[in-house]
Amino acid sequence: MSLQWRFLLSFLLLIVTTIVLVTGIDFLSTRKQLDDFIKVLGKREAQRISQDLSRSFTLLGNWDNVQNVLFDAGFLYKREFLERNNVLSNEKNTALKASQQKLTHIVIVDPLNNVIYDNFYQKPIAETTIELQGYRSSIVDYNDNRTVGFLHMDLKYEYLEEEADTFFEELFYQSSLSFVLVGLFSFVLAFLLTKYISSPIIRLTNASRALAEQKSKIVLPVSSSDELGQMSKSFNSMVQSLEEQQKLRTRLLSDISHELKTPLSIIQLEAHGLKKGLEKPGKTSDKIINEVQRLRTIVSDLNWIVETNTGEQRLSLELCSIKDILSDEIDRWKSKAAEQQVKLQLHVAPKIPMFFLDVLRIFQVLGNIIRNSLQHSNPGGQISVQAQYQNKNLEITIHDDGTGIEASDLPHIFDRFYRIDESRSRSATETRGTGLGLAITQSIIEAHNGTISAESEGLNKGTTIRITIPWTEEKTS
Ligand SMILES: Nc1ncnc2c1ncn2[C@@H]1O[C@H](COP(=O)(O)OP(=O)(O)OP(=O)(O)O)[C@@H](O)[C@H]1O
Ligand SMILES: [Mg+2]
Repeated sequence: MSLQWRFLLSFLLLIVTTIVLVTGIDFLSTRKQLDDFIKVLGKREAQRISQDLSRSFTLLGNWDNVQNVLFDAGFLYKREFLERNNVLSNEKNTALKASQQKLTHIVIVDPLNNVIYDNFYQKPIAETTIELQGYRSSIVDYNDNRTVGFLHMDLKYEYLEEEADTFFEELFYQSSLSFVLVGLFSFVLAFLLTKYISSPIIRLTNASRALAEQKSKIVLPVSSSDELGQMSKSFNSMVQSLEEQQKLRTRLLSDISHELKTPLSIIQLEAHGLKKGLEKPGKTSDKIINEVQRLRTIVSDLNWIVETNTGEQRLSLELCSIKDILSDEIDRWKSKAAEQQVKLQLHVAPKIPMFFLDVLRIFQVLGNIIRNSLQHSNPGGQISVQAQYQNKNLEITIHDDGTGIEASDLPHIFDRFYRIDESRSRSATETRGTGLGLAITQSIIEAHNGTISAESEGLNKGTTIRITIPWTEEKTS
């Protein structure tokens, strides 16, 4: 079953349940209110007539005026009486007979339940009766506030109920009609709503399927900022990062094969020359050893990357002086810098405490950064390395005044295999690297719980690399 149908069915279930419940509760409460209303009406009517009868009894001291009181109130149906008073026409007489069942039955009794008057003439006068129905209200002689009798008023409830049933039938019919109309309207609304809710999910499903089948790259529209919009956004960035990963992978493979090809072909050529006696063994073996060393470096770089990915890299930390490490590293690069006519300077602030560091890895970090700086420096340029201890952090900055990095490249230079267009560099052949240097550098610094960042104001404005490593009392990694 499709998602939209699931939503639609759930909505429909909800709508029907709500309408049935609301209509049912309404119906029952209306019925109760009407019943209560009828009861109140009957009670009031009984009280009104008993007051009239009380007044008449108080005036006369007897029941002689009962008929007139009931006549005035409209509850006297005796034909002779009505005819005498010229109230009843012939048609009305027939109607009166027909409606006899629906009329209000009034019985008046004295305090001992002896019948004084019955407007239907059913109860024998002066006989004691106890089977009286309807509302009972006392009749009082106001002279001495003595109860002289009781009025029983039977409103013929069945008749009113019949009327009420008609009313409820009508109400039911109208409720059903509004039920159907509201249902139809809600259905249309639910249909549109479910379409609106499910369409981003359906689009996402189709896009994921297309992606899984590697058919095409789909960019989902992001039309809202809610969870569904966020979902489409995340999907788009996932597709983008997948695409970038794929590009990087392709580039990695081509880079690795390129990097391996050069030393391998050199080794092959030199070995051939040696075999044919064309090359001197000493020089040739030096070249072969150099190329093998290069192959080794590439393989160890790749190993480090794999270890970082699986979180397996181990540091061998030892307490060491950063001043010694930096001096050794600067010494290593001095002749290369002089060859390029680049000035290499070191400033180490006094009183830097000993740090727990993996010395070989830190040499690797410094080497990578200084090599980059040299590769991007111009003759007459300057590279300065500074170290200081601040807020319990070791801060190392390596600044050069070389080619610099454009703002658009800055966020990516620590990505694996990211290399800035070689044509921009000082010498394309000399600077060609794998784009792993800074990625490895960053992972080593992070393994020391530190951070590394790069700053450059743009092309030919130089570059600054900043490293921060927190001081720790004990070995932490
Ligand atoms: N000091 C710098 N000045 C200008 N550009 C730099 C500097 N340092 C790094 N970059 C740029 O950042 C990119 C990434 O540097 P990274 O060291 O990771 O790779 P690489 O030097 O190209 O290759 P590798 O170091 O693996 O041999 C380089 O291609 C380079 O263009
Ligand atoms: Mg590099």
